[in-house]
Amino acid sequence: MENTLVLIKPDAVQKNIIGKIIKMYEENHLKIENMYMRTLDQDILARHYEEHINRDFYSSLVAFMQESPVVVLNISGEDAVSKVRGINGATNPNKSRPGTIRYIYGESVQRNTVHGSATIEDAKRELSIWF
Ligand code: RTP
Ligand code: MG
Repeated sequence: MENTLVLIKPDAVQKNIIGKIIKMYEENHLKIENMYMRTLDQDILARHYEEHINRDFYSSLVAFMQESPVVVLNISGEDAVSKVRGINGATNPNKSRPGTIRYIYGESVQRNTVHGSATIEDAKRELSIWF
């Protein structure tokens, strides 16, 4: 069993599709262990997106992530880290597989609806930031 971090991003919260997204994880035999909503400050985004701080898209990403509250979830299950990444789909919605969250709801590379931890190590690090 693994635990992973999911963020339901502002584009999804603004479109009132929080429930639809959570349903997709639950229907794939994953369990919502814990969740809450919060508005983000620069500090938590810098910790979460540590690897991207020097990228050209970072300031735009921070502005987007502060547009509205996000939903923060701790999700568990067998192979939860890779399973969530599979359900989420590719970062760019235009390149994601049909049936994935980003294929169905994603608007652009940035406004791509959800975050999921990339590795088991990232999941542990991110869960300790958010919970
Ligand atoms: P995530 O961390 O959100 O699960 O997505 P990911 O691993 O598939 O993508 P990552 O490379 O970690 O990028 C983090 C988030 O930054 C935004 N992004 N914008 N070129 C761009 O404008 C660009 N590239 C990435 C996306 O919101 C992406 O999910
Ligand atoms: Mg990532």
